[in-house]
Amino acid sequence: MIVLGIESSCDETAAALVKDGKTILASVIASQTETHHKYGGVVPEIASRMHIEAIVPVVDKTLLDAGLSLDQIDAVAVTRGPGLIGALLIGFSFAKALAYALNIKFVGVNHLEGHINSIYLNDNTPDFPFISLVASGGHTNIYYINSPDNFELMGQTRDDAVGEAFDKVSKMIGLGYPGGSAIEKLAEKGDPSKISFPRTYLEKDSFDFSFSGIKSSVLRYINSNKEKLQSLKPDIAAGFQEAVIDVLIHKLIKACLKTRCSDIAITGGVAANHTFYEKLSREAAKYSINVFVPPKSLCGDNAAMIAARGYSMVKEKNFSRFDDDVFSRNKAGSTGIKN
Ligand code: KG4
Ligand code: ZN
Repeated sequence: MIVLGIESSCDETAAALVKDGKTILASVIASQTETHHKYGGVVPEIASRMHIEAIVPVVDKTLLDAGLSLDQIDAVAVTRGPGLIGALLIGFSFAKALAYALNIKFVGVNHLEGHINSIYLNDNTPDFPFISLVASGGHTNIYYINSPDNFELMGQTRDDAVGEAFDKVSKMIGLGYPGGSAIEKLAEKGDPSKISFPRTYLEKDSFDFSFSGIKSSVLRYINSNKEKLQSLKPDIAAGFQEAVIDVLIHKLIKACLKTRCSDIAITGGVAANHTFYEKLSREAAKYSINVFVPPKSLCGDNAAMIAARGYSMVKEKNFSRFDDDVFSRNKAGSTGIKN
């Protein structure tokens, strides 16, 4: 089964063709980060306009790269939410129209389920049940996954997402948006033990996160060390990164031990952080826990993960309707992932 995936929830217009939920035939990502960089964050209206311009060429290029024509597609999978409404609408409306014209099924995919499914696009995949972290610019969620269609939310951030904290600290030290990879690069030149920022673990049994405290603590540190700031920046980046990573690792291993899982999958933009992966792997090994991460190109937003999730939804006959709409946030009171 060949599924065309489409993703437009934030500042990437992406399309991918994936065979049997596993093999990527082509994957194209048109990123808008350079445009948004000068504003210090994503400007929703600009994002929507750029999606309109990019969607047709991106899908055309994907077909060309895979050497396929439209009539060889079996289903269209598209991000339905959460994300920016205007941005989501471009991909969602395009997918509906294409599925209608080709008379094939279309499925609206939850973006977070997409990230979770990015782990299956690898040769080496975790065994069920496993613990999955989605760590992105908008979410920090820990799930217990016992089948391809079952996502049980164990914990989530109560304030800032971890990627958001990276982005905000990056802005504070003048590196701009997006901040994750910039902080990671600068941290390589710093000493993580020089400045100790607070680790917030919340209640003993909680798998929730809070990253607003560390953000304020970094800001206070910057304000009281203004005269030496330039030379302190690498240590600030390293100290901040280490504190955040320590909290993520602590909760992930605790979740694994509680549920007796022996595999952890990390996904989302923050999973591209190599220091995080390395330290998590080292710590997890002490408990005979294995760590899985998608290739870097599939950690950030992409359409192959949407096609992968779409494949399992089609197999479950979990189709969407042409009068379905996009949504900006997961419904309150849901498991955090239901539409
Ligand atoms: O999954 P993603 O591409 O988009 C969302 O769904 O939000 O995640 C983007 C987030 C941004 O906050 C970015 O700063 C962060 O992932 N990120 C990183 C790294 N690369 C991207 N955070 C830490 N280290 C990185 N290397
Ligand atoms: Zn994402």
